[in-house]
Amino acid sequence: MVSLASIVLAAGKGTRMKSGLIKVLHPVAGLPMIAWPVAAARDAGSDPIVLVIGHQANAVQGVFRGAADIRCAMQEEQLGTGHAVACALDALAGFHGTVLILCGDTPLLRSETLKAMLAFHRNNQAAITVLTALLEDPYGYGRVVRDNSGRVTRIVEQKDADPEEQKICEINSGIYCMESDFLFNNIRGIGNDNAQGEYYLTDLLAIAVRKELNCLALPAADAEEIMGVNDRVQLAEAAAILRRRINREHMLNGVTMIDPDRTYIDHGVSIGADTTIHPGCRIGKGTVIGEGCEIEGEVSISGCRIGDDCHIKAASVLEESELGEDVAIGPMAHLRPGTSLGNNVKIGNFVETKKIVMGKGSKASHLTYLGDAEIGCNVNIGCGTITCNYDGVNKHRTVIGDDVFIGSDVQLVAPVSVGRNSLVAAGTTVTIDVPPDSLAISRIPQVNKDGWRLKKK
Ligand code: UD1
Ligand code: CA
Repeated sequence: MVSLASIVLAAGKGTRMKSGLIKVLHPVAGLPMIAWPVAAARDAGSDPIVLVIGHQANAVQGVFRGAADIRCAMQEEQLGTGHAVACALDALAGFHGTVLILCGDTPLLRSETLKAMLAFHRNNQAAITVLTALLEDPYGYGRVVRDNSGRVTRIVEQKDADPEEQKICEINSGIYCMESDFLFNNIRGIGNDNAQGEYYLTDLLAIAVRKELNCLALPAADAEEIMGVNDRVQLAEAAAILRRRINREHMLNGVTMIDPDRTYIDHGVSIGADTTIHPGCRIGKGTVIGEGCEIEGEVSISGCRIGDDCHIKAASVLEESELGEDVAIGPMAHLRPGTSLGNNVKIGNFVETKKIVMGKGSKASHLTYLGDAEIGCNVNIGCGTITCNYDGVNKHRTVIGDDVFIGSDVQLVAPVSVGRNSLVAAGTTVTIDVPPDSLAISRIPQVNKDGWRLKKK
């Protein structure tokens, strides 16, 4: 096994994003932008991966906390890509092998492309290989200058290019692989005598050519992959492309999407075969959905585990909740974190739940708030029921046993319990524990006053 390391450049702020947040931390399909090229480098077999960080360094580091293969190198002042790579070298001391250099703002880059570049680089025993692309509009990018026999001679930046060079359509993607010896021996040979007064990493190509080392440029099979995100227009474009890739994968795995262009699934979601997803759904990372489910339109799900054959009706919001099999939710229900529902549970429209366990076959069909509650099996929760869980200072629990029937418009003033197989009459305010097999009723006796309306007039 040949050793491979990566350097990912991410010290710049990303001014064109016009954001308080550094560019590489903007989320794309559920991951901070920089996590995408890092994952590609990892999949290609890199270890270690050195991140060159500067702006908001702690936050960038935080994304990878606990990852054993990640090392960070500080670049206090952003003096150019060549300077950035030089800052990474201490973190690679003693490393011998091939080094991939990537940018933190290329979320579309796939590991297959890196592997193809590595194979090309190694088969040709190159000192340095740059990944390029042929663009109709190359404006802004560094251009790859080749001699008459097609050999790469150097890369020239937009701002340094003469009119002839500006016509070149082969551009530098900013993605390279090079041998560590070549990199270590030459990185400090880069100067900053150019239009921007920066240390250009691209000067390494001219150095290799001057030293008669093998310097190659490989056009990427798919120019889309090397697209760098510089502003929010490109951020949206990149996100759309990643979404299409993610959705395609799910569809090939047996998921039906009524309109994949309007289905927003993050990276790291698992969905079983024969599940159907309607337009406008957002499914966040960490979610696992079983087989044969129906997810209606405009549903938002994040961090949930959903069993087989569940039916999530339109416009419901599910957060960090667990659902057994054959559970029905909504329309317009809100499951807040800590909701755990057994098989065959039904949660109807305008029901809100939080930190509850609800046993098999129980139902809360309409207009209800259930928070901090333990509800048994085959319980019926009537319309308008409220667990009064908060006294203004503390939260308290409500416990409801199996086979309980709670009538409509009941308030359960926690802490309180209702024993199994009891019935709480409609309109009751439960303030003391209800024993099993009993009836709880608290109503002010009704008074009818004859002719009252007539006297009023
Ligand atoms: C660079 C290339 C250009 C190429 C383009 C591809 C150079 C001199 N030019 O230009 O040929 O076509 O990428 O997108 O390399 N960074 C640091 N520290 C620095 C400077 C940059 O970490 O001191 C990071 C940035 O955060 C960014 C990446 O390096 O992630 C690229 O830097 P950027 O300034 O965007 O380079 P370009 O001018 O686009
Ligand atoms: Ca750039």
